[in-house]
Amino acid sequence: MTLIIAMDGPSGSGKSSAAKGVARRLGYRYLDTGAMYRAITWWMLEQGVDVEDAAAVAARADEALIEMSTDPDAPGIRVGGVDVSGPIRGREVTGAVSAVSRVPEVRASLVARQREIMAGGGIVAEGRDIGTVVAPDAPVKVFLTASEEARALRRAREIADPAVSVEATLADQARRDRLDSTRTASPLTKADDAVEIDSTELGLDEVIDAVVRLVKERA
Ligand code: C5P
Repeated sequence: MTLIIAMDGPSGSGKSSAAKGVARRLGYRYLDTGAMYRAITWWMLEQGVDVEDAAAVAARADEALIEMSTDPDAPGIRVGGVDVSGPIRGREVTGAVSAVSRVPEVRASLVARQREIMAGGGIVAEGRDIGTVVAPDAPVKVFLTASEEARALRRAREIADPAVSVEATLADQARRDRLDSTRTASPLTKADDAVEIDSTELGLDEVIDAVVRLVKERA
């Protein structure tokens, strides 16, 4: 049976590596919904839209043409034919993405596209609202957490830029978590039926093992 596996959690919880690893182990597809919010943010900035102006963002929510790869070994994303896989991880997009993703019209537009991609199952989808909004009927839901320090350290290692301190990463992460958890539209919360995994003390393989075990129990 091919399932939808929902993996939600805050930034730096290790969702992306774990979700990709689970998809590889099971031969499933992989959907990074955060990359979609980042891509639409990149496009808004490129178009000169003021991202703090919710009405301006809402008016253009359906315009960006986003193409996603769902291959866990070759994840990539294009907007209007441009490969934005690198730029969407930059500081400008990271600083603006929470403002864009709190706009309900943006969420409605992306959730519809995510459901289209997820149709047919056999996919691991990661984000903030997969288990609560995008796929509330997913048979396997994981809420991945880790201590704030562990998450900031992982992010800092990912960024691998000596000019960006762990303290700055911690501050940016705390700001983004606060915005993502307190917004009105689909805030980051654990679904009632999600299994929480705290990855602070776990290695990547241990997290992947735990999720795969859950899938086997429910398949
Ligand atoms: O997962 P990642 O850190 O790349 O997500 C970037 C941002 O996209 C988050 O900080 C959040 O504002 C938004 N997001 C969201 N809903 C999702 C996935 C990401 O609002 N399902």
